[in-house]
Amino acid sequence: MKTALITGANRGIGLALCKTYLAQGWNVIGVCRTASPELTESGARVIAGVDVTDAQALARLAETLSDRPLDLLINNAGIFQHEALGSIDYQSIQQQFLINAEAPLRVTEALLGNLAAGAKIAFITSRMGSIADNTSGGYYGYRMSKAALNAAAMSLARDLQPRGIAVAILHPGYVQTAMVNFGGDISADESAQRLSKRIEGLTLENSGTFWHSNGETLPW
Ligand SMILES: NC(=O)c1ccc[n+]([C@@H]2O[C@H](COP(=O)([O-])OP(=O)(O)OC[C@H]3O[C@@H](n4cnc5c(N)ncnc54)[C@H](OP(=O)(O)O)[C@@H]3O)[C@@H](O)[C@H]2O)c1
Repeated sequence: MKTALITGANRGIGLALCKTYLAQGWNVIGVCRTASPELTESGARVIAGVDVTDAQALARLAETLSDRPLDLLINNAGIFQHEALGSIDYQSIQQQFLINAEAPLRVTEALLGNLAAGAKIAFITSRMGSIADNTSGGYYGYRMSKAALNAAAMSLARDLQPRGIAVAILHPGYVQTAMVNFGGDISADESAQRLSKRIEGLTLENSGTFWHSNGETLPW
């Protein structure tokens, strides 16, 4: 049986991804800061108390997993804030950078020992991190942090190719979660199903592609 580890597993897209992989017969390890009843009851193994920006918490996570192999790591945890030009909150930008860009790299590095040839890593980014696709401006911290995440994910795709590990850079769609006040146009379950199809189609040959969950390739 294959094993997936998913961050931000307690709610939103992360929780839906846990349920999707469980329904497909995978072992799922749901990593979060605080477990939700839905995650606890899902059948996933829950590892709580993990803030993805906390190096010590990530070292403890790696220790807990010991040498358990992972077939799939999904870096999903993230935050979305917006800043107004003229009164930009630079702390907000830094926080988004830490959580959205640096933390997925930290998590991946902490768990590299659990990823062998044939394993896959997915980064849940956003098309708002695309510079070519930015027609509406604003959202400095979110756009900057997701563009930085895309850059890190591409370096990982290059660096991990010789080790036989493929990397997907995935926009989930506009999804009905708390992040967007449930205003999206697809449900978290539908997004998770689409994302799992993209991950299924991920190979070493197409590693490093920036995909919309609907299968379109997005511009950088
Ligand atoms: N919804 C959309 O339309 C949309 C569009 C594009 C991209 N995305 C991306 O999709 C991913 C999931 O978002 P969502 O829509 O499911 O949002 P959500 O419902 O707000 O969930 C965010 C998740 O990230 C976790 N998280 C945030 N900061 C964390 C930290 N420091 N340490 C550990 N976990 C942390 C949250 O945990 P807590 O409960 O502990 O806060 C929660 O589980 C994000 O990367 C987001 O940028 C979403």
